[in-house]
Amino acid sequence: MTKPSPTLRLIQLSDLHLVEEGKLLRKVMDTPTRMREALDQMLTFDPAAIIVSGDIGQRNHYVHDDAAAYFGHFQDQLGIPFIAVGGNHDPIGGVGTAYNPAKIAQGPELCDTVHDVQGLRIIGVDSHGVGRNYGHLTHEQRQWVGDMLVEPAEHGTLLISHHPPIPATTVSQRGSGLQEADKLYDVIKDSDVRAILSGHYHHQIAGSLGHIPVWVSGAASYNFNLFSEAETLQGMNDGWATIVDVYPETVTFSSVIFTAREEVFTKPVG
Ligand SMILES: [Fe+2]
Ligand SMILES: [Fe+2]
Repeated sequence: MTKPSPTLRLIQLSDLHLVEEGKLLRKVMDTPTRMREALDQMLTFDPAAIIVSGDIGQRNHYVHDDAAAYFGHFQDQLGIPFIAVGGNHDPIGGVGTAYNPAKIAQGPELCDTVHDVQGLRIIGVDSHGVGRNYGHLTHEQRQWVGDMLVEPAEHGTLLISHHPPIPATTVSQRGSGLQEADKLYDVIKDSDVRAILSGHYHHQIAGSLGHIPVWVSGAASYNFNLFSEAETLQGMNDGWATIVDVYPETVTFSSVIFTAREEVFTKPVG
């Protein structure tokens, strides 16, 4: 029996929440070091592209030029695109022209981009949300997404939006996802969009928008403890990323913890 190998393997990193060098996030977390460790480990999976799904910087930290340069270094070294969208912590225009140099088309907002990764189309959209506790797309953005999808791509399309079009598991984060998701569904429901990839919630969750799967990656920086009291958000120090395997028949999402964990056994296989 042959074992299917993925047509394409991608890595999704989300919610880096980078702080300025020499500073710590919430006085305890060195998120730039966390990002470097995450990339070093996740690149061992030999991905065809890296998706960075927003909240690249922590609010009011001026890190976006340095982060773009750092991603650019990896892109040049490895010859793979880094596909980035902004999140609610990223300043308006922060994920600008220094990002997404491999894009093949540009939408109404600076980080609305289209990439072609070996026949897989990846569309990133800016779901805004700076200074608000929810995300949204404009009418122009939805129209642009619809226009981009008129012609199907060889291996279909993945859509990237920082804010997820599904509710959070944590009660206190309900309502902070992508608003008017039904209007987005109207423009993608008859297209070749195979999945929507998001972040923002700082916990893994899967769902669907109509018939289209939605995956929310765990955050690289910190993640919420789902056992905590309903009226609190308790950030935990673990860092997660996602392996996205794109097969002809399906797309799979595998959550990977890249911070310390304890081995219980190793055994030979095959
Ligand atoms: Fe975040
Ligand atoms: Fe966010």
